[in-house]
Amino acid sequence: MNCKPILFAAVALAAIPASAEKIHISTSEASMVLDAEAGRPLHFVYFGAPLGTADVEALDNSGSRYLKAYPVYGLEAARETAMSVTHPDGNMTLDPVVRSVETSKDADGATVITVRMTDRVYPFGINVNYRTYPDAGVIETWVDAVNNGKKDVELREFASGYLPVRSGDVYLTSFYGSWANEARMEEEPLTHGMKIIKNKDGLRNTHTAHPEVMFSLDGRPRENEGRVIGAALEYPGNYRLRIDTDDSDYHHFFAGINEDNSAYTLAKGETFTTPALALAYSQEGKGGVSRQFHNWARRHRLAHGTETRKILLNSWEGVYFDINEQGMHAMIDDIASMGGELFVMDDGWFGVKYPRNNDSSSLGDWTVDTRKLPKGIGNLVDKARSAGIDFGIWIEPEMTNSVSELYEAHPEYIIKPSNREPVQGRGGTQLVLDLANPKVQELVFEVVDTLLTKYPGIDYIKWDSNAPVMNHGSQYLPANRQSHLQHEYWRGFSKVMDRIRAKYPDVTIQACASGGGRANYGILPWFDEFWVSDNTDALQRVFMQWGTSHFFPAVAMGSHISATPNHQTFRTIPMKFRIDVAMSGRLGMEIQPKNMTDEEKAMCRGAIAQYKEIRPVVQQGDLYRLLSPYDGKGLASLMYVTPGKEQAVFYWWKIETFADQHLPRVPMAGLDPDALYTVTELNRVDNTPLPFEGKTFTGRYLMDNGLEIPYTNNVDYHKRTDYSSRVLRLDRK
Ligand code: DGJ
Repeated sequence: MNCKPILFAAVALAAIPASAEKIHISTSEASMVLDAEAGRPLHFVYFGAPLGTADVEALDNSGSRYLKAYPVYGLEAARETAMSVTHPDGNMTLDPVVRSVETSKDADGATVITVRMTDRVYPFGINVNYRTYPDAGVIETWVDAVNNGKKDVELREFASGYLPVRSGDVYLTSFYGSWANEARMEEEPLTHGMKIIKNKDGLRNTHTAHPEVMFSLDGRPRENEGRVIGAALEYPGNYRLRIDTDDSDYHHFFAGINEDNSAYTLAKGETFTTPALALAYSQEGKGGVSRQFHNWARRHRLAHGTETRKILLNSWEGVYFDINEQGMHAMIDDIASMGGELFVMDDGWFGVKYPRNNDSSSLGDWTVDTRKLPKGIGNLVDKARSAGIDFGIWIEPEMTNSVSELYEAHPEYIIKPSNREPVQGRGGTQLVLDLANPKVQELVFEVVDTLLTKYPGIDYIKWDSNAPVMNHGSQYLPANRQSHLQHEYWRGFSKVMDRIRAKYPDVTIQACASGGGRANYGILPWFDEFWVSDNTDALQRVFMQWGTSHFFPAVAMGSHISATPNHQTFRTIPMKFRIDVAMSGRLGMEIQPKNMTDEEKAMCRGAIAQYKEIRPVVQQGDLYRLLSPYDGKGLASLMYVTPGKEQAVFYWWKIETFADQHLPRVPMAGLDPDALYTVTELNRVDNTPLPFEGKTFTGRYLMDNGLEIPYTNNVDYHKRTDYSSRVLRLDRK
C-alpha cells in the first residue's frame, strides 16, 4: 500500500502510518474508511460516496487529514472529545490504541465490526462498533467502555459517536419545537463556534429539539441533489449533539447521551454501552437521506415496520375525559360505518377510589371505572368486534399521581430525592415512577400484561407519558449511584419493553408523550408508530409532518382528521384540507363523529376508502418532498412512489391565500421517466374534473413540468373557502 507519512498541525495530529490497516465499511449508498493499525489510535479516514478498492487504496495519497475516529480527553490540545474518564488514581487522561478488529453477524442479519482498543497504561478498554445491513444504507456506530481494572472508573463524557465533517459550504438541518408545535425545521449555515442541540426532559426527548440532524455539504440544503449526511441518535432519553467548528478544516460532530448530572461510575469488570448513532450519506440531497432512514426504519427499527397500519378513531379530542359506555359504543359504530378499522379509547376510563375525571388523579390505578363503563372493557372489545373493527386502549404506565391508590400504597416507587417533598407535574399531582427499581419494572409490565391477558382482543395500545423527570433522585439507587438515575431508568424501561414484546409481539403500540415527545429511534424498536403532536390543526401539521418526515416514515406518523375550529389553534379549516393532510401520514380520526354533518361523514367515508387503496404507497413507498412549506412560496407539496415506481400519490396544499396570487408549478420526482402514468384525483370536491383527470403523461413530463394545479377548488359559491388542496394518484399504464 502506498502510504505517505504526513504530519499535520492542530487537530490533525496523526501521521499516516506506513502500514495502515484500513477498515472499509460499505453499504450500497456509502463508504466509511478507518485506519485501525494495531498499537496506534483508531483513525477516521473517510465517510462519503461508495468507494472501490482502488479508491480506498488511493486515499492515503488524497491529501486527506486523518483524525482520531473517537477523540478522547487528556493528552492532546484541549478540544471537544467523545470520552473522558477519571481513573481510580485520579488520572484524567485516556490513551487508547487498537488491539484487534473483529467482525460478527447479529440476529438481524447485520454485520458488526468491532475495533477493540485499550489504554496504553490503564486497564480501560474502548470498543468502537459499526453495524451495516445488507438491505439498508444506514451505518450505526456505538461504543463500549470497559473497566478491566479492580476499582471504579468515573465516566464523565461518553458520546456514541464522532464524525468530522469537512468544512466548506455546509448547512445544518435540525428540528426544534415545543408542545403542540413539534419538529419545526431549521436550516442554517454552520459557522464558527459550537452548536449544541440537547434535551434534558428525561422522558419526552423530542418535545423540544430532536436528536437527528442533516449536514448538506454543497451549500443550501436541496431535496433531491447534493451531498448530504444524516445522523440520528438512537436514544429515548436526554441527549446532547455538539457541532464544533474550530480552527481546523472540520465541523466536529459528536452525539450521545447528555452527561449533565449523569456521570457514570463504571465498576470493576463492568461495561457501559452507549446508544447507537445511525449515519447515512446520500448524493441525492436530503430526500436521499430521508429515504434511506425510512427504508432502514421500516426494515429494522420499527415494530412491524413493513406492515401497513389500521385506520383508527381515537377518542381524545372527541370526548376528552368524558368516557362512558354509550359514548364509546357510538364512536365504535361511527368509525366502523365510515370504514375505519380500529377504535382507541383514550384517557379517562380507569380509577376506582379516585375516578380519572381530569388529569389530577388516578394514574397507576389501572382498574376500569365501572361507573363509566359498567360492563367493563370486555364489553367494548366485544362491541368493536361485532362492529367489525378492532379495539385499542390508552395507558400511561410510567406515571402515578399523588392522588392515587398506587401512590398511597407505594410512595417509595416515585422518582424523588431524599429529604425533600416532590415537585408535582401535570394536573398538579403527576409523578414519575422510578423504573430503576425492579419492583416498578414488574409493576409496569403487569399493567400491560394484565390488560392484554384479561382482554386478549386488545389490538392497540396508546402508551403515553406526560411529565418530565423533575425531582432528581432515586429512592432505589444507593447514595453513590444517584447520577445513574437516567441510565437506570432507560435500562429498566428496556427490560419492561423487551418482556412486553416477547409476550405480545403482535399488539400495535403507539408512543405518545404530551403529543410528539417520543418520536425517536431509541424508543421505536418496541413501538409501531408515534403521535406526531397534540396539535391536529391541518395547516400547522403540514409544517410539523414535514420536519418529522426527514427521518421518520409515514407508516410511523399518526396523523388524524380533527374538528373545526381546531381545538389547539381555533382555526377553521374545511374538511377537504383536513383530510388531504391527514392522508399523507398514518390516517386516523380524532373527532366526535356525532358532531359531524352527514356530508362530512360521507367525505370521510370516501377518503377512508380511497386511503385504503393508496395506503401501501403512503406507508411503504419512497418519499419525495417537492416544495417545502418553509420556503415561503405559499405551497407545500410532496409525493410517495412505490419502490417499483408503479404507483405514486401526489399531495399539494395551498398554505397561504392572497387574491390574484401566483403560485409555482411543482415538478414531480421519483417516477420512471419512460413510463406512462394515468392521473386520478382523490377526495374530489370540485363540480368539474380537473383537465388532467384520467389523462396519461410520461414520468419524464411530470418530473420536468408537473401539472398546472388550479389554485382554488371549483365548488358552489357558498362552499368556497380560502383553503385549497389536491391529492392525485398516478398509476403506471
Ligand atoms: C397527551 C396525549 O398527547 C393526548 O393525545 C392524550 O392522550 C392525553 N395525553 C390524555 O391525557
